[in-house]
Amino acid sequence: MSKLNVEEIKDQSRGLRGKIVPTLLSDATHFAEEEYQLLKFHGSYQQDNRDSRRERRKQKLDKEWIFMVRTKMPAGTMSPGQYLAHDDMADHLGNATLRLTTRQGIQLHGIVKGGLRDTIRAIVDCGLTSWGACGDVVRNTMGPGAPIKDRAHADALRLADDINERFMARTTSYTSIWLDGEQLTLDADQAGEPVEEPIYGKHYLPRKFKIGIAVPPRNDVDVFSQDIGLVAELGGGGEVTGYSIFVGGGFGMSHGKTETYPHLAQPLFSCAPEHAAAACEAIVTVQRDHGDRSDRKHARMKYLVAERGIEWFREQVAARIEFPTKEVTAPEFDGVDDALGWGEQGDGKLFLGVHVPQGRVVDLRDGGRYRSAFRAIVAGLDCPVRVTANANLYLFDIDPADRERVDAILAEHSVVTGEAHSALRQTAHACVSLPTCGLALAESERVFTDLLDRVDTVLDDLDLRDEKILVRMTGCPNGCARPYNADFAFVGRAPAKYAMYVGGSHRGDRLASLEQKVVGFDDIPAAIRAHLEEFVRDRQPGETFSDFWGRTRPDAAAPTPEQFHLEAEDRATA
Ligand code: HEM
Ligand code: SF4
Repeated sequence: MSKLNVEEIKDQSRGLRGKIVPTLLSDATHFAEEEYQLLKFHGSYQQDNRDSRRERRKQKLDKEWIFMVRTKMPAGTMSPGQYLAHDDMADHLGNATLRLTTRQGIQLHGIVKGGLRDTIRAIVDCGLTSWGACGDVVRNTMGPGAPIKDRAHADALRLADDINERFMARTTSYTSIWLDGEQLTLDADQAGEPVEEPIYGKHYLPRKFKIGIAVPPRNDVDVFSQDIGLVAELGGGGEVTGYSIFVGGGFGMSHGKTETYPHLAQPLFSCAPEHAAAACEAIVTVQRDHGDRSDRKHARMKYLVAERGIEWFREQVAARIEFPTKEVTAPEFDGVDDALGWGEQGDGKLFLGVHVPQGRVVDLRDGGRYRSAFRAIVAGLDCPVRVTANANLYLFDIDPADRERVDAILAEHSVVTGEAHSALRQTAHACVSLPTCGLALAESERVFTDLLDRVDTVLDDLDLRDEKILVRMTGCPNGCARPYNADFAFVGRAPAKYAMYVGGSHRGDRLASLEQKVVGFDDIPAAIRAHLEEFVRDRQPGETFSDFWGRTRPDAAAPTPEQFHLEAEDRATA
């Protein structure tokens, strides 16, 4: 039988069941391609340990198959019990680390096939889910981080919950495969009938779909990188009076293929808060009906909006809604950064934003013992947490009287909070990449601390420690750490070789351009330095690097697919 494409796999899957159960029951070490595609909807990626590939090949052994399981929770919020349950799973089922993700989820890595059911059950037992954390559905709904309990955030978080519930796939395959009863049987699996999916239909969406909500002036969810970005409009009492809706953002592309490109979301319309979730549903169904299902590299909604035009798209959405809309109010953002350090959360209690390098919650051998520190604080104070889109952690609902106790626990575990780092480091992020990601072309998370140490030396030299400069790195052009709107981004091409992008914005509202097709890892600090020296020399008083770039490169703001694939000189002659 010839290989099925993903649309055919979904079509024949009986509500995303496929042959997941037979594979779980067999002694196969891993899933075949068709089940692997379906497994994503259930929240897991099949991977192999790429560090051990060569050695195992030499020994004629099969790959070391492992799984990543991703938990999703709207706006990254977890109760103390939920956080501690994940911490526990990391030890018993995973690789003793937790990975906070850039969509405010949590990933467990290194799970073996035999541990998949226990992991997913444990996630559900603590009141969360991995259902729809990956796959062609609406993924984790992102929401604004801090302050935690003011009116605008409470309103926005209610909307995040509403959206999350509305777009949950209805098929019962998740419950029947992972949760029902102790015993999995083939007969029961065969009897599982697909359930009607009111929003998704039988074929789900053409591709993944991302929604995020921001409360200005903080663009911590990187709202323009989303398929749908909702920006709260605020009234005099700090309440949300409406949402400005932006559509068609998305960052994945392939090196050298100009038909693939990142795009920022464009203004669609503004509506009343009570209509925002219905507006999302109308938008999702336009993509469901018109998105390109013939080519997965061209299937994201960003291509539909970019190629048919925002006017066409607006008409399509208008035909599916019955509430009034008005023009978007241009939002004013001051940055994508988190509120690191101590802050008042709006109801008399405190929150603490802790910077977590690359979002990896781990006890470092010669650095911060993040996992133990968080466990001690969350268990000791019974405080909830929120994962941020910069993969940092907010601990909240902390009584002011406990502040010193928390500080002492952090100090005891050598964990330093925001202010101790350069401003650049506090927002910098790198995707997971090697050794787990099958798509990685170069290292990212594992080399990022070393890179930032060297960049910090440049900052110290140029007296720029407190300057907001956004640096991101990924191991391939798929863009999981959202590189294409950073001031500086490094996108893996080959081992230790990166494409260098410059000229996004620390507010997340401008795309960068390809500056150098290939930079060696060791040459990155010097490449950044050259631009920062120019900045120090020619900046105007109070100007950020992003604003300096916008003023000195006025053409940079007009995005064209070429800007991601050709260097400036080649663009000029293209
Ligand atoms: C075609 C495009 C993409 C593909 C095929 C892809 C694939 C993957 C894979 C395989 C992983 C797992 C890596 C691991 O944990 O070992 C991953 C992680 C992740 N991806 Fe993507 N990705 C794509 C684009 C994006 C984009 C554009 C975003 C967000 C703007 C994104 C957000 C994430 C997040 C939040 C994670 C979790 C880990 C982290 O925070 O780095 N992905 N992706
Ligand atoms: S950007 Fe590429 S290398 Fe990094 S996690 Fe995403 S798919 Fe993997």
